[in-house]
Amino acid sequence: MKTTPLNIGHRGARGHVAENTVASVKKAMELGVDGVEIDVFKCASGEIVVIHDTTLDRTTNGTGYVMDHTYFQLKQLKVEGEYTIPLLQDVLKALDKKVKLNVELKGPGTADRVAFILNYYIEKQGWNPKDFIVSSFDWDELRSFYQLNKEIPIGILTEDDPLDAIDVAKELNAFSIHPNHRFLTKGNVKAIQSEGYKIYTWTVNDPADIQRMRALGVEAIITDYPERLRE
Ligand code: G3P
Ligand code: CA
Repeated sequence: MKTTPLNIGHRGARGHVAENTVASVKKAMELGVDGVEIDVFKCASGEIVVIHDTTLDRTTNGTGYVMDHTYFQLKQLKVEGEYTIPLLQDVLKALDKKVKLNVELKGPGTADRVAFILNYYIEKQGWNPKDFIVSSFDWDELRSFYQLNKEIPIGILTEDDPLDAIDVAKELNAFSIHPNHRFLTKGNVKAIQSEGYKIYTWTVNDPADIQRMRALGVEAIITDYPERLRE
């Protein structure tokens, strides 16, 4: 079901089920999202794993850097006691082309492998490039991704002033800018949209903030609680 603004589950449905797990992604789909957002790193053996932090300590029973572990090691770990760390492909399988996927590149060196995997799903599994958005706070990683794939939409993540992203958005022919909702105003929303970019704002959980984002006219809201966009 398509909603306005688009309803994007943050790290799956983080408000309900352990973030960045297949179960969380499935929960977001149950809640009727238009898409889900996940975070990815490349691990020591080269696979793309779905996890938010550089280290394992906060969300799993492991310790140390994600990038220092092989996938064989990572898949033995438990996320919040009951889930496992998925591969990007596990999330793609769970989504089954039913909702869109925003892949946030977290670690360095993720662009090449993510481009390869998404391209495989486009060419061999019937996904459309527009089913994806690849975003990152690391604009150099996005530059690398753009060199490899010019069909998949790019989203420029910003922590503070979203207007700082306009130049790089032009350089990378971006689809969207992904600002922290706290920095959005009538003025900068208008400026971004008049340059032709969609606004995918994060992470909007409080009903009053959701209301404010609706009033500002953003195109998508990334939330831990997708059901709140329907209330
Ligand atoms: O992609 C939006 C949002 O997820 C960015 O912040 O820290 O939750 O990855 P973070
Ligand atoms: Ca994220």
